[in-house]
Amino acid sequence: MAMTAEQILAAITPAARDEPDSGIVRAAMYGFTVPGVIPLWAGEGSTPTPEAFARPAAEALLRGETFYTWQRGIPELREALAAYHRRSFGRGFSHENFFVTSGGMQAIQTIVQMVSGAGDEIVIPTPAWPNYAATLRILGQRPVEVPMQFANGRWTLDLDRLFDAVTPRTRAIAINSPSNPVGWTASREELVAIRDFCRRHGLWILADEVYCRFFYGDQGETRAPSFLDICEDEEQLLLANTFSKNWAMTGWRVGWLQAPRALGPAIERIIQVNTSGTPAFLQKGCVAALDHGDEYLAGQVRMARELRDLTVSMLSGLPGVRFEVPKGAFYLFFSIEGMTDPAATVRRLIDEAKVGFAPGDTFGPGGEGSLRMCYLKDRAQLEEALGRFSRWMVTNHRA
Ligand SMILES: Cc1ncc(COP(=O)(O)O)c(C=O)c1O
Repeated sequence: MAMTAEQILAAITPAARDEPDSGIVRAAMYGFTVPGVIPLWAGEGSTPTPEAFARPAAEALLRGETFYTWQRGIPELREALAAYHRRSFGRGFSHENFFVTSGGMQAIQTIVQMVSGAGDEIVIPTPAWPNYAATLRILGQRPVEVPMQFANGRWTLDLDRLFDAVTPRTRAIAINSPSNPVGWTASREELVAIRDFCRRHGLWILADEVYCRFFYGDQGETRAPSFLDICEDEEQLLLANTFSKNWAMTGWRVGWLQAPRALGPAIERIIQVNTSGTPAFLQKGCVAALDHGDEYLAGQVRMARELRDLTVSMLSGLPGVRFEVPKGAFYLFFSIEGMTDPAATVRRLIDEAKVGFAPGDTFGPGGEGSLRMCYLKDRAQLEEALGRFSRWMVTNHRA
């Protein structure tokens, strides 16, 4: 018996049916229909993966590495991850603490499925990447959002407010540093305070450090402060990371999860029922990125810093536009005075200025009056996009 669309939708879970679309995805889907738009809505650059990383994957595919593979990831990649972390953090790491996932997204999903159950809570500072709250809601859990403050031109996280949000149902605190979308980067002292609080209360730290290397300190640092600087391997720390951002591999969908050794069998079981493992041939390209990609990554970060500076200089002084110069990641999150409906503004900017941003309210409390743009783009294209936006603002802003 054929059913109406309404009847079919009524038959799925409310969590799956009622979850709002990501505003980033909605902007992109709308923007794809309008010719000539410069897309700055998504968190990725405009160049494809370097051939040096792509070729080993293509060759492995053609060689016939097309079978089911290790649930934790191929040993070669887990060893390369341990070596990359030894280089980046100057201390020992074991391959036993690394698990290959389908993107950073699946690392987060695995963590949430493992530490938190129906009705449980995870505390998340906002504005935050919307997939956190959505993942929790779809799993029947509760995101507890704690807005950061924007005052005196700076985003800050009030740690007392963060800790006050913890209840007996809280299982974890999620910290994304450097953050998407605002670029807030936790200091070592803040990380220590969060670690100590979580230790005292038996909470998990869900550390999302996917932008760890995109850090623009003024002391020549090559990465942001990390929970890996201050935590043991074998404690309640779970890190989500990805190949997507460092090595221009967003479309590959490969990431990793770093976890205590004791969780190996549990993580394997979760991977088994979600994806049954990440394609082995893709993992060969990831080994090449880790083994030969340090220079490429350093170049990407240098370029990102220059593009950030270009963006800041082009948008400074625009009427009604306010932002903090981000210390990390590759986004500019800016408020526009008087803007009440960011999604409508995003659509107008796509139609009228042919430039594509993401609406700030999709990032949760604190993002209402803002837009987000990714500046990791071809320089000439970025300049053109910012020029279009500036002209549109001068014509349309009536603050
Ligand atoms: C904060 C944050 N965490 C995780 C991810 C997931 O990365 P991936 O594309 O590898 O799933 C993203 C991607 O935009 C992100 O911004």
